[in-house]
Amino acid sequence: MTITYLLLVAAVMLLTGFFVLNKLESYHLAVQEENLEHTGNLITALILPHLHDGAGPHRLSTVAADLSKQINARVIVVDNNRVVLGDSHGGELVGNSLERTEVEEALQGRTGRSVQYSNLSQQQVLQMAIPLNDQNERLGAIFFATSLNPLYENLTTVRHFFIFATLIAMALTAALGGLFAKHLGGSIKEFTAAARRMAAGKLDQKIPVTSRDEIGELADQFNIMAESLKEMKKRLTRFVADVSHELRTPLASIHVCLQSLQHYDMKPEEQQEFLQDINQETQRLIYLVEDLLELTRREEVEDKREIVPLRKLIDEVLSTAIPRATRKELKLFDKLPDNLPHFNISPAAFKRVLFNVLDNAIKFTPAGGWLKVSAEMRKADVCITVQDTGYGIPEEELPFIFERFYRVDQARSRDLGGTGLGLAICKEIMELYGGTITVESQAEEGSTFYLTLPLHHAVA
Ligand SMILES: Nc1ncnc2c1ncn2[C@@H]1O[C@H](COP(=O)(O)OP(=O)(O)OP(=O)(O)O)[C@@H](O)[C@H]1O
Ligand SMILES: [Mg+2]
Repeated sequence: MTITYLLLVAAVMLLTGFFVLNKLESYHLAVQEENLEHTGNLITALILPHLHDGAGPHRLSTVAADLSKQINARVIVVDNNRVVLGDSHGGELVGNSLERTEVEEALQGRTGRSVQYSNLSQQQVLQMAIPLNDQNERLGAIFFATSLNPLYENLTTVRHFFIFATLIAMALTAALGGLFAKHLGGSIKEFTAAARRMAAGKLDQKIPVTSRDEIGELADQFNIMAESLKEMKKRLTRFVADVSHELRTPLASIHVCLQSLQHYDMKPEEQQEFLQDINQETQRLIYLVEDLLELTRREEVEDKREIVPLRKLIDEVLSTAIPRATRKELKLFDKLPDNLPHFNISPAAFKRVLFNVLDNAIKFTPAGGWLKVSAEMRKADVCITVQDTGYGIPEEELPFIFERFYRVDQARSRDLGGTGLGLAICKEIMELYGGTITVESQAEEGSTFYLTLPLHHAVA
């Protein structure tokens, strides 16, 4: 990552430097050319009187030398035949022909210019020739050559500055990138080690949160994940312990009955009694295993969804409950509106919920009592209420009755054939459909269970 940043910084700085230097060079060259052309025109005006006076090469060269000092450029005067009439370099070229393209241009009435490397003075030189006109008559041309050294020296300074700035930027990037990489690398190593320990079963991992950045957030989430894994493991252990305990009790009874049958001589009626006990305990085991299976089948419940009228589901459960209630001398009332909506739910799962709540009401209400099933359309949901006048549930027990294997009165519930899984299953199913199951109850008075299904899941 640091190397990528370094390359990026170097590329940006070099490109910027290249661009800036190019722009500076062309700008200053243009300015210098313009200045030279301007002063050239003034110089023409100063040379003309000397030509009119018929000045010889010596005087012309002296005048050219004077002007050369002022404008810092070599000045050469040529006639229309390119023959040098005066040269600021002590008349060096006087009498020679000055064969230059710039001079050629000037003699045709235009300004000739070029930038060249002069082998003689070993530097870049700006050369320019402008026409020497006396009103409408062309008398020749004036040639200038000026050193571009100061310009290129300035550009070299700017280039050095860019190189220096690039190096500083790269050094800073390397230092900061190194620090960042160290921080990131260290954290990743710590996460990897913690994850490895967790994979090996040590779930009590905690990564210290030392910063408020993304790494800190990751550490936070990692700790939350570790915590919930620990909690899940604890719940799983408790669940297995609960299941084992629940399996053990009927199995122990069966074991005792079988041993008695095996070792003692009994009358046939006595044997029948033991066999009946075995039968009952076996049945309980079957229920228990069925409930356990149900608890682990949440996804399947989801798969079997279909659009069903709620009223029909309630009626079906009621029709199975009525004979049981009558047998136990309980009155069962219902108050159900006809316009209950259709829901996209698993009919079997929902009937299981209502059946268990009604089954509890029948089980935990002594003979002579009554039960009432009603439903009501509310603003955001449908609420189904199952009320009984049974034993009720003490207030302090209420928070626990939806937990697996929780039974208020262990002995009574077990005698009545319960495993304590019914309400836990109901809660799972209702939550799957975005609904709720809640209870209000008073010991010895009776209980009311409320099942709600959100209307936004309703289909019609
Ligand atoms: N209507 C009720 N009146 C009084 N107590 C109730 C009522 N409904 C539930 N309970 C109490 O809550 C406990 C948990 O109920 P749940 O339906 O989970 O278990 P269960 O009926 O004992 O067994 P299962 O439903 O698995 O056969 C019951 O054992 C009982 O003590
Ligand atoms: Mg039950």
